[in-house]
Amino acid sequence: MAESIDEIIRVDHAGEYGAARIYAGQLAVLGHGLHGDTLRHMQAQEQVHLDMFSKLITTRRVRPTVLLPFWHLAGFVLGAATAALGPRAAMACTVAVEETINDHYAAQEAALGDDEAPLRATIATFRAEELEHRDIGIANGAEQAVGYRLLTAIIKTGCKAAIEISKKV
Ligand SMILES: [Fe+2]
Ligand SMILES: [Fe+2]
Repeated sequence: MAESIDEIIRVDHAGEYGAARIYAGQLAVLGHGLHGDTLRHMQAQEQVHLDMFSKLITTRRVRPTVLLPFWHLAGFVLGAATAALGPRAAMACTVAVEETINDHYAAQEAALGDDEAPLRATIATFRAEELEHRDIGIANGAEQAVGYRLLTAIIKTGCKAAIEISKKV
């Protein structure tokens, strides 16, 4: 993987920013429902992830992606739209997003050397929490969502495109 450290921090910051917005969108629709506390738990962890990458953007002088305003909107819309389809569709969205981020973080962990051990450890910690979110999604009926396979395939494709774009711009 030919990702530079700048690209890693830029795209991870963008991803955690988007993730926080997805859960905000889900909470706007489902916050008072049965899954409200579960969604707030995941959103709180995304906020910790985002705060860490925001700090790294500053301390390591990385230019954030110019697309933050777009991810602000797109993340919220994705979360709210899937939540509007119902809690299972919202959980299917979580599974799709978190599995994509897991793969993305796993590749970064493999690529980072000992000279970037603290960053690698941060990513490993966050990846474990993304997998926890994926498991929460499955435990809450994601796979029973109507159109699960199509819905998750579309969201994964979108997330992968967002990742590639956010590395560069
Ligand atoms: Fe995260
Ligand atoms: Fe997550």
